[in-house]
Amino acid sequence: MPATILVGAQWGDEGKGRVADWLAAQSDIVARFAGGDNAGHTVYVDETVFKLHLIPSGILHDQVTCVLGNGMVINPVNLVKEMDGLQAMGVDISPSRLIISTRAHIITPAHIALDAASEKARGAEAIGTTLRGIGPAYLDKTGRQGIRTGLMAQEEAFADALYEMVKRTNVILEQQYGVETLDPQAAAQSYLEAALRLRPYLRDVAVYLNQRMNDGARVLCEGAQGTLLDVDHGDYPFVTSSSPTSGGALTGLGFGPKRVDRVVGVAKCFSTRVGGGPMVTELHGELADRLRGTGEHFWDEYGTTTGRPRRCGWLDAVALRYAAEVNGFTELVLTKLDVLSGFNVLKIATAYIVDGRQVDLLPDTTLELERAEPVYETLPGWSEDITGARDADDLPAAARAYIRRIADLCGVPIRTVSVGPERDQLVHL
Ligand code: IMP
Repeated sequence: MPATILVGAQWGDEGKGRVADWLAAQSDIVARFAGGDNAGHTVYVDETVFKLHLIPSGILHDQVTCVLGNGMVINPVNLVKEMDGLQAMGVDISPSRLIISTRAHIITPAHIALDAASEKARGAEAIGTTLRGIGPAYLDKTGRQGIRTGLMAQEEAFADALYEMVKRTNVILEQQYGVETLDPQAAAQSYLEAALRLRPYLRDVAVYLNQRMNDGARVLCEGAQGTLLDVDHGDYPFVTSSSPTSGGALTGLGFGPKRVDRVVGVAKCFSTRVGGGPMVTELHGELADRLRGTGEHFWDEYGTTTGRPRRCGWLDAVALRYAAEVNGFTELVLTKLDVLSGFNVLKIATAYIVDGRQVDLLPDTTLELERAEPVYETLPGWSEDITGARDADDLPAAARAYIRRIADLCGVPIRTVSVGPERDQLVHL
């Protein structure tokens, strides 16, 4: 069967970009289905670092056609910038390699202004969004007053829709938030230019994907963000506004579940989170600093999109087990195992204590999750540098035991582990 879905099993930043890059080598099409340029996927190829926000990592493989699905929200100006950046690095970005759904939604300057204003108004309760306008764009989509990408093909109608949206938003910015309003003319200008550039790339993605799959093409659905940030299944309201889980791939691209034979979850072998919201296994001080890294390397725990230091903690198997069920993982890829070298002991949360009771399942309210304390299992660590490991025998016994325990705890096989940022730093078990 032709489709594989790849999703983040935690709070995003699991290292999906490098896993997508690996799976893209076996794919004809790589398609993003949710989110927008809040995502940041880093891929390291022969000393060159590619930072992708909207365009799937598959673009780095010549045989792959990349698709931006209807489930996405797209800032056309930032997309053009990303395309130009890739082109300058020698990547072919012609319309034969990149297809943009006519049914995705446009992130406008109005959405970006609203994101900033609403975050400021929330004060201490801020979500900690990426300020890319994601939430307000999805709000307009579901409120049936958004602008679809297909409208970029009609200059006048697109300009009118942009003016209208900015004018409508100005009322909210002024009356609800008391902040500066936007000049509709100025806000629209760069968008109209970007629309002209993007027009040749627009297409009905559902029709395209179904036809290609009927002809035998293999599709990799590349998730962004992660399961615990899902608007339905995550720690609401500390979530993004889309469905980054496997179900979102079907609605965000337009094909049925019978097409899918593989659902790959990606989890870091510890936990990180950016922005607000509960994180039961969060650490502070020296241990957190060791997991985070210094920020010297791009793979250290600082946001690709915002540069914010990530909150770090031990692996949370309660959350991971939940992600395995919500997504129906057929396998799990563990990333950044090399970071754990040198820890005397490693901890995994296997249950929580909530209001004096031990629970094995993720509480379904964020308030309970905020009160949860981790119940840890302690495993021996290892001291060896494992960045050169390429198969199971190259790993210390303690590392193999750590991987086995995670697979047991979430009931999903782990066949691949990353031990560094380079393409070949993968251990196939
Ligand atoms: P938004 O998606 O910008 O609205 O942000 C909502 C929440 O999701 C915030 O906590 C962000 O930090 C988080 N978030 C959004 N995109 C990513 C991502 O790609 N990686 C990690 N966290 C993300």
